[in-house]
Amino acid sequence: MSTRRAKKATMDFMQIIRGRRSVRAFRAAPLTRAQLELVLEAAGWAPSPHGRQPWRFVVLTSPEAKGRLAAAMGQQWRQQLALDGQDEATINARFAQSHQRITSAPAVIVPCLYLEELDRYPDAERQAAETTMAIQSLGCAIQNMLLAAYAQGFDGGWMCAPLFCQATVRTALELDAALQPHALITLGYAARDPQRRPRKSVADLVAHWE
Ligand SMILES: Cc1cc2nc3c(=O)[nH]c(=O)nc-3n(C[C@H](O)[C@H](O)[C@H](O)COP(=O)(O)O)c2cc1C
Repeated sequence: MSTRRAKKATMDFMQIIRGRRSVRAFRAAPLTRAQLELVLEAAGWAPSPHGRQPWRFVVLTSPEAKGRLAAAMGQQWRQQLALDGQDEATINARFAQSHQRITSAPAVIVPCLYLEELDRYPDAERQAAETTMAIQSLGCAIQNMLLAAYAQGFDGGWMCAPLFCQATVRTALELDAALQPHALITLGYAARDPQRRPRKSVADLVAHWE
């Protein structure tokens, strides 16, 4: 175990919470299956509506799979950027950066919403609330993953891209139609310390307290 990891293993809870940061560039050093399984186990301990765990995870470590996903998403993104009126050079630069970010991460996890085991309601309003609960809990699961990575001494980055091209991700990864890709989490050891985003004070966060 490296010194850094040994130190991280003894971090207390608030150190882990405060220390986690979004990392967007990684070293090539691979992650072990055990490290990734701990990240996934942490996701599984997240709170969820009715305890049904309405999420499943796709894990990609092979260069071929990461490249296939990045290429498919990139293709659709190019079309979306062109629709937004961006010029060819900008589109090429943004595509290359995003492609590099995905393919150079030692591991990529695609968290998917999985609603099949949730309650069904006859009215749209309650059904929408049920889905919202599932999405809320997917966020909890992803946060657990990021914290579990950081606590083990490596880092994660959150990309929202799959949410904007769910069908493309499903096709590229040959996923079941019941899986809704919601994010892409890149995992690995940070290439450098990223810039820290400042946080609002607790007083600024409290809307009302009596
Ligand atoms: C739902 C969600 C979507 C995000 N999507 C992206 C993204 O597409 N690309 C990105 O670089 N960061 C993304 N992030 C990361 C945020 O930019 C980051 O968490 C925020 O700037 C705070 O920085 P920190 O995570 O280092 O504390 C996303 C975060 C969340 C919660």
